[in-house]
Amino acid sequence: MRVQDLLGRMTVEEKVGQLMQLPAHFGDYTDKLEEWHIGSFLHCTGDNAVNLQRRAAETRLGIPLIFGIDAIHGHCFDNDSTVFPTQLSASSSWDKDLMYRMARITAKETRASGLHWTFSPVLCVARDARWGRVNETYGEDPWLIGELAAETIKGYQGPQGYDGESILACAKHYVAYGETLGGRDSYECDTSRRKLLSLFLPPFEKAVKEANVASLMTGYHAIDGIPCTVDKWLLTDVAKTQWGLDGFVVTDWENVRSLHTKQYVCADEKEACLRSLLAGNDMMMSTPEFYPLTLELIAEGRVDMSVVDEAVARVLKKKFELGLFDEMRFFAPDRSSTMGIQSHLNVSLEASLKSMVLLQNNGILPIDPNRTRKVLLIGPNADDVIAQLGDWSFGSMQAGATNDTYHRDQTVTVLQALRNAAQSYPFALEYIKGADCVDDGFSEIVQIEAAAATADLVIACVGDTLAQNGEFHDRADLTLSGQQQAMLEAVKRANAPLVVAFIASKPLTIPWIAENADALICGFNPGPFGGEAVKQVLFGEYNPGGKLTVSFPVHVGQIPVYYNKYTGWHAQNSARLNGEERYIDMPKDPLFSFGYGLSYSTFNYLSAQVQSDVIEPMQDVVVMVTLENDSDRDGTEIVQVYLRDLYSSVTTPIKRLCGFERVELAAGERREIRITIPFEQLALIDANLNKVVEAGEFHVMVGASSRDEALVTLPIRVTHDTAL
Ligand code: NOJ
Repeated sequence: MRVQDLLGRMTVEEKVGQLMQLPAHFGDYTDKLEEWHIGSFLHCTGDNAVNLQRRAAETRLGIPLIFGIDAIHGHCFDNDSTVFPTQLSASSSWDKDLMYRMARITAKETRASGLHWTFSPVLCVARDARWGRVNETYGEDPWLIGELAAETIKGYQGPQGYDGESILACAKHYVAYGETLGGRDSYECDTSRRKLLSLFLPPFEKAVKEANVASLMTGYHAIDGIPCTVDKWLLTDVAKTQWGLDGFVVTDWENVRSLHTKQYVCADEKEACLRSLLAGNDMMMSTPEFYPLTLELIAEGRVDMSVVDEAVARVLKKKFELGLFDEMRFFAPDRSSTMGIQSHLNVSLEASLKSMVLLQNNGILPIDPNRTRKVLLIGPNADDVIAQLGDWSFGSMQAGATNDTYHRDQTVTVLQALRNAAQSYPFALEYIKGADCVDDGFSEIVQIEAAAATADLVIACVGDTLAQNGEFHDRADLTLSGQQQAMLEAVKRANAPLVVAFIASKPLTIPWIAENADALICGFNPGPFGGEAVKQVLFGEYNPGGKLTVSFPVHVGQIPVYYNKYTGWHAQNSARLNGEERYIDMPKDPLFSFGYGLSYSTFNYLSAQVQSDVIEPMQDVVVMVTLENDSDRDGTEIVQVYLRDLYSSVTTPIKRLCGFERVELAAGERREIRITIPFEQLALIDANLNKVVEAGEFHVMVGASSRDEALVTLPIRVTHDTAL
């Protein structure tokens, strides 16, 4: 109602301006606010937002601005905010409630800076570790991604409509952006429409239908030759018409211009503007020429005003819902009682702890303080704030800052945490950095070998650093860079017990560590409290319970190694069960598989059964597991359920995740867990692109990880073909 009223009073120029989103952090685009009637700015920090909003209020119709920001693991572009572990790191918790709470906090803090919209969460499926943006994802499983993303979106957008503590979410990058060839960011993606429907669209569908996400961002890339920005089927037919997207579609950075300057599908920028609009984009991020060129297109009669009106209406609707036309125009929660407050930081620590994945332990952990008198701490990431915070924190390239003063007050590195620990445990700590991630020449290997020879324990913090991940930073070589490997080998030569803390943006190829380290803890970019979390795991103050959401390749040539793979590669008869197909010079299994992670507790799966092994159409599958914590430590197990469709009209993965539960069990406790798999999850996309559950036998597999040896198989039979 109010949208239509306002639309009726807007000039053509004012309408086109509403579709513009320009950067506030560089260039002189803020000067254009009044002249171009700009509707949105991104990356607006400090007092800039209030000032711009005041100027917008003084324009003819006073249409408020909407400010977007990449608050993707906390509102990290503000130095007072709470930073969380990266999406990949936090996903190892498999904790939906935690996702919700982190997003609520981010929303409050973002709103306290006068901003209304985050370009988060990332729903890309990370199946190629070479890709620079793996850190931004929830890992490799589409269904898990949808589950975690839906909670995150609900957290950002608030429980009941937008209040002063809620912001718009943006599900990105639409779609299959992680699937570009060779892990090359924003390159071509050759996936089929059936694969899109099977794997890459479902998390977005859940974001729209279940979480009512307020916006989608179109990916940079092209799929099968069609840039996402001009794919009407994706943007309009699927997202808006079929799913009923209530929000709007924003392009990624310069996507419109790139149609002409990078993807060469438009002979000039004007055609790029035309095609972007017609495909269903509602807001154009950072293509300034969109304003004059679209006005020309309208004047020439090449764009019907109804197309513009529809896009403007979608944007205005969200501005109204946010209350920006009313009392919320200048509203921002009080910064001092909101930003980085203790209760928020506590959730960040909780996230760091829950994100820790213990990948290996020969019994050396938890550290026995009585037998550990001298600890040697080494490695580039033992005291590196940025490596701990990861990309899209203030230290990242997007904000142009590279020193580590940002969020320094908040951050506890491993070095700091161990220095504190040395006050309460009887060990002496020696720290030698030893190697750098990027500077190949830097090493103190001789000193390390000598120091390791007299140490009771060596803790090595290895991984990567900002320059090795993020946009423009894909890697062809995933081995430990710099002198990190040589440094670890020096410890081995000294015969010292070695515990590795892996602080990296994504899986690297670390078979040497798997073979030689006594223990391995993976935190990815574990956030400001990652150092504290590593320390708590080392000393058993916290019992790790995280599980990987992404597989670790043994070698870069083994990629892809995602668990939900297909058979057919000269498979032997048994391949269906144990995936025998492989390169002749490479093991068949990843180094560490999706879903894998250890604990200091011992969990026994005492029994597993399905409530009914005959499934009628629309009947859910109910799995019952009796789980026991057979240890004297309280602990957390993430019970996983996978599904295999034995014979189907099209090839299907050897298994795919369809359910899980995070279970906290006290020492000695035994509990029955019920996990319900909605019937719809048995579906596949058939050759005619229909979603169907096909009659026949399925295997439901229950256990501790995606590895066959960790799973119990329960056969079920679906009685009828069912179209969904
Ligand atoms: C480019 C990135 O691909 C996207 O994820 C981000 O939200 C925008 N730039 C805005 O910074």
